[in-house]
Amino acid sequence: MVVTVIGARPQFVKAALLSRELGKKGIKEVIIHTGQHYDYKMSEVFFTELGLPGAGINLNAGSASHAVQTAEILVGIENYLLEHKQNISHVLLYGDTNSTLAGALAASKLNIPIIHVEAGLRSYNRSMPEEINRVLTDHLSTLLFCSSDEGVRNLKKEGITKGVHVSGDIMLDAFNLFSGIVKAKYRITDIIPERVAGNYILLTIHRPVNTDNIDNLSEILAGVGDIQANVVWPVHPRNKEAITKLNIPSNIFIADPFSYFEMMVVLDGAKKVATDSGGLQKEAYWAKKPCVTIRSETEWVETLHDNWNTLASPRREDIRNALKKTICHESWAQLYGDGKAGSRIAHHIGNNP
Ligand code: UD1
Repeated sequence: MVVTVIGARPQFVKAALLSRELGKKGIKEVIIHTGQHYDYKMSEVFFTELGLPGAGINLNAGSASHAVQTAEILVGIENYLLEHKQNISHVLLYGDTNSTLAGALAASKLNIPIIHVEAGLRSYNRSMPEEINRVLTDHLSTLLFCSSDEGVRNLKKEGITKGVHVSGDIMLDAFNLFSGIVKAKYRITDIIPERVAGNYILLTIHRPVNTDNIDNLSEILAGVGDIQANVVWPVHPRNKEAITKLNIPSNIFIADPFSYFEMMVVLDGAKKVATDSGGLQKEAYWAKKPCVTIRSETEWVETLHDNWNTLASPRREDIRNALKKTICHESWAQLYGDGKAGSRIAHHIGNNP
């Protein structure tokens, strides 16, 4: 039996895809939801929308400091693993959140093999909690699935070569599977008002470096405020308090967090994207939308080729200029695999009982 540990929004999307493939191969799976994300629009809506099997167990860890959150999840996962150890073949982890790291620590101390999906990503910026989580998780994993050759190269630099596979990116499986269904199901005006829907940029901001520093956040908003277009901003809960204190430019339309399906529709209608999310950089590329990434570096370096993705600092002028300059390009190559990462990963898991 595979024990999957998930707790944050993008992990629900990835797990929904791989769970289907594990099921097809007859591999039994139990899902532990750590409770890191707990609001309806950050968690439950993804389970219902994507048909993700309900979590067998919910640790209800919730929000806290990094140490407290990680420790609570660690203890909860260990309790479950201890109780069911004889039936568990692997612990399956996604990405780079505190839930991922806690899963890796708990499983490795009990000598349970770890599968890491989205292995080998590096920003080489240790001030990001995600970088610490992903480095440590990779070093504790037995089967490592990379989205591209870049991940394999990064792992090799750190001496990790065993059990490494290029699977392609599982978010592409989701993108391909759901985009047709979603376009038939929703109209953009079901999600955002008609006055906004004609000409807009999609904005998402949630990295601590941008959100916990009020000066950076206000510069970002001023930068997108300078653009001659509407801006649709689904606000992550960590920004809720900040937006009550900030000057919000009049072209910004503030929305609650979008479900995965809503996000696909809003992305499809957007002229451009401004974000600090990892996942949205790739989705923008697949949707052929020029993207400005408000960070000093990106793990998804392939998206920078041909300038589909541009980096910008959290400064008003930099963001405004990058957004004005970025355009759709003629050249576009399929990045991050063929949309069959899930079946490839499930195949390897099945062959490594
Ligand atoms: C986490 C991940 C990040 C991932 C992101 C996806 C870590 C260190 N970070 O960031 O890598 O890209 O999820 O969205 O694991 N909050 C709520 N309700 C919720 C969830 C969060 O109100 O359902 C608020 C809380 O105030 C909390 C803050 O958001 O303190 C941050 O949440 P947290 O899960 O710690 O990190 P994210 O910023 O969501």
